[in-house]
Amino acid sequence: MFSDLIERVREASDIVSIIGERVALKKRGKNYIGLCPFHQEKTPSFTVSPDKQLFYCFGCQQGGDVFKFVELWEKTDFKGALEILAERAGIPLSSQDPREQKRYRERQSLYKILALAARFYHHIFLNLPPGKAARDYCQRRGIDRETSEKFMLGCALPGWDNLIRFFAKRGYKAEELVKAGLVLPGRRGGYYDRFRNRLIFPIWDQRGRVVAFGGRVLDDSQPKYLNSPESTIYSKGKNLYGLHLAAGAIREQGWVLVVEGYLDALTAHQYGWPNVVASLGTALTHEQARLLSRYCRRVLIAYDADTAGQEATLRSFRLLKEAGCQVAVVPLPQGSDPDSYLRAEGAAAFGQLLEKALPPVEYRLKMLQDQLDLSTLEGKMQATNSLVPLLAETDNQVERELLVKKVAGALEVSEASLWAEIRQYRGRKGKRGREGDRIPGKRYNIDRDFHNPPKKPGITPAYLRAQEALLTFCLHDQEAREIIVKELSWQQFTAGAHREVARALWLAHEEGQFTPAGVLARLENTEAKALLSRLSLQDETILEQKERSIRDCLVVVKRQQLLEEIKVLQEQIISLEGEGKSTDKANLLIELIEDKQKQLHRLE
Ligand code: GTP
Ligand code: MN
Repeated sequence: MFSDLIERVREASDIVSIIGERVALKKRGKNYIGLCPFHQEKTPSFTVSPDKQLFYCFGCQQGGDVFKFVELWEKTDFKGALEILAERAGIPLSSQDPREQKRYRERQSLYKILALAARFYHHIFLNLPPGKAARDYCQRRGIDRETSEKFMLGCALPGWDNLIRFFAKRGYKAEELVKAGLVLPGRRGGYYDRFRNRLIFPIWDQRGRVVAFGGRVLDDSQPKYLNSPESTIYSKGKNLYGLHLAAGAIREQGWVLVVEGYLDALTAHQYGWPNVVASLGTALTHEQARLLSRYCRRVLIAYDADTAGQEATLRSFRLLKEAGCQVAVVPLPQGSDPDSYLRAEGAAAFGQLLEKALPPVEYRLKMLQDQLDLSTLEGKMQATNSLVPLLAETDNQVERELLVKKVAGALEVSEASLWAEIRQYRGRKGKRGREGDRIPGKRYNIDRDFHNPPKKPGITPAYLRAQEALLTFCLHDQEAREIIVKELSWQQFTAGAHREVARALWLAHEEGQFTPAGVLARLENTEAKALLSRLSLQDETILEQKERSIRDCLVVVKRQQLLEEIKVLQEQIISLEGEGKSTDKANLLIELIEDKQKQLHRLE
């Protein structure tokens, strides 16, 4: 329903009129051009397409749909842009469907209750004499007034029904507060406040609405933290603490620092890092990684250096990488978290620590050096097993080679044997990926060497042409898109720019909000943006004889993939033979190759 509404607002907001109200536009051919409002220029390179309802600046490469334009122009987020455009179009931001209206009203009422509760706790914290306990606690922890106001810290008093009584005076029933997670029913009837005698942290969604609370004890008693339960407006794993406060800084600086706890986030903000969020728990979830990738592509992780923190860090790597982010780990010394480190060592030292952030492989290597005896054979083997997956998953070839050198040096093993392990790992992954393919919708896992094929000027290989044709279909035709998204994963697009465009397309499609502008807005890389523009302006005669062309292209792309996989397997056999290793493995590889050849025949 929400996306319906977005579409209605979009339809009512012609991009040429909206931009034309703010920028002088001249018609040129099918499009309009003007001076870009987002960077300094003397000759117009800011283009608006009425057909595609997109804008794009060839100078600064900003581009997107009408919502994106308003976001940039008004310096707001998507919701802000939606509100501005809805108001302009006279569309009320609520639905017509009565059931939907009821849910909408319920959610609105939850937001209202939680916002009021946040103000209630905050008022006690700031102004009332009994709030002194919480104020003193913050003072002991070095949280200044500005930070406690920024994060709207609150105080829940020791009694059983302070909040219940406050809300009762304003006409709220206890049942409503139970739904909001603020109150619990007592065993013998009656109700009591969930949060008592605690320092209160309001938790916001990315749009800045209070959706839950965390409450910390003021001493060493247990449990240290108490949280609101999940609700229709709050889901723990989909939320990042402090994101609405950090969003602007994250976008501006192009990177985010992820910490574990409330206090880590508060302290980092206070010491001059406004681009910090907390994951509030241990490992980052898939949704959180996705959420972050909307704001920037570089993620630094600064979790506690204890074992749980290290495990959480390791699990975050893959998720963030899958979301398209580059990750590095801040090497906090054992026993400290960002909060304690900043307090003990100061902002300058913390800044230096951030500079020393390690990419996944090096981080893992450092951990292993601390934990294992790498002079023993067993230590070397354990370390190799643990590093090979990370090495194999390093996409960039140059980087991978450097890392292999480094790891080989540190473990005192030969580079050749490390490469052999990597190839073997890829073979195994290849096999698993293929099994996964039988499950519809499941993604391929295969990591291949040919993501960045060498550029031969003038000649575009057939499989790249086929990939471009498929992307063009996806852009222009929904039916085609559904077929293609089902048949291929974006990881099967091989060249860098094609892959990035495919990834953006697939994500937009999954989220059910597909427009070329929406896809464009997800792209970071200039080459990818250029590719998308080229493909979306491409001659649409390609859409004739759609079904046949799609089938042909799919065959070409899948065939190329199988050929590459076979090549990788063959190389493995050769390297096995070179090392005079077991024939069992070679036989297995041969079986795999035969299987792939069968698949090839089936394709043709
Ligand atoms: P301090 O110990 O006061 O420095 O708080 P912290 O925010 O640094 O907490 P810590 O590093 O121990 O834990 C990280 C995060 O995990 C916290 O911010 C909480 O979100 C969560 N957490 C920690 N302990 C508990 C607990 O007992 N219950 C719940 N629900 N969450 C907890
Ligand atoms: Mn802490």
